[in-house]
Amino acid sequence: MDLPALKPLPMNEIVSFSTQKSWGISDPVRFYQLIDELKTLISPGHYIGDNLITWGRNNSLFEDDAFRKAWTDNIQNDADQAIAWRRYILATAACHCVHLPGDFVECGVYTGTGIKTVADYLGGTAFPKTFWGFDTYDYHPVQGHDFAGQQAGFFEQVCARFAAYPQVRLIKGLIPESFVQGCPEQVAFLHIDLNNAEGELATLEALFDRVVPGGVIVLDDYEWAAYRKQKQAEDPWFAARGYRVMPLPTGQGMVIKRCPPEQDGPRTPVPGFPRPTDS
Ligand SMILES: C[S@@+](CC[C@H](N)C(=O)[O-])C[C@H]1O[C@@H](n2cnc3c(N)ncnc32)[C@H](O)[C@@H]1O
Repeated sequence: MDLPALKPLPMNEIVSFSTQKSWGISDPVRFYQLIDELKTLISPGHYIGDNLITWGRNNSLFEDDAFRKAWTDNIQNDADQAIAWRRYILATAACHCVHLPGDFVECGVYTGTGIKTVADYLGGTAFPKTFWGFDTYDYHPVQGHDFAGQQAGFFEQVCARFAAYPQVRLIKGLIPESFVQGCPEQVAFLHIDLNNAEGELATLEALFDRVVPGGVIVLDDYEWAAYRKQKQAEDPWFAARGYRVMPLPTGQGMVIKRCPPEQDGPRTPVPGFPRPTDS
């Protein structure tokens, strides 16, 4: 498919973004006073929100009009607004994966804003891939962690949001047991956002081998200290398979699936770096 067009880059304008949604701040009033002062000292191109304070950026996400529309059209709460950069990581990973064989999968869907933002960025109701969404929906399986609205009838509300998207298949139930209700043989894009190590490892056990070469896995919580138990579980799991997660400044982690060595194409040998199949 054709990707959304980027407009010519205005060389004399840099977009800045600031929101008052971050987590782990003990004195928000003082914090945002300091942020206001900080903004007077830094160059344009700042991104402040979602626990990021950075400046001098291109902020590419805000210059991609198709993304801006998909993101703003789907904002349902403060967090959806603040995590724009995380959404752009998903959207641009999707630009890569949409050309691969296999379906798209999100484990941990909540209201469906992640799926809908990606689908709307790449064609909306004409999004060209099957997109699976696994969640318990009506309750959070980790006691005391329920998000707003998670109660009887919630699943139906999320389904209604995708009424015009026949390619979106929402599966209600506890991961990994729910995979028996339906699960793609090949996965091009896998977004894991469960906020608990047990569910995320169970997802990896079930789906990692189905991710096609070149397929992308995004772990929403990997680089957040608040979810350190997930990193503790996932690092050895990936290391045992010869992978290391790329920690992103957004708090996400990313893994790109390799070809198995026997499917890897010919390449010029580099002295000192033999191919795994070379003896
Ligand atoms: C942070 S929310 C997902 C947010 C969503 N990815 C987004 O982009 O807006 C986490 C979700 O994971 C779900 N969840 C956690 N563990 C699960 C499990 N073992 N099986 C199914 N759903 C699970 C919760 O019900 C919750 O809706």
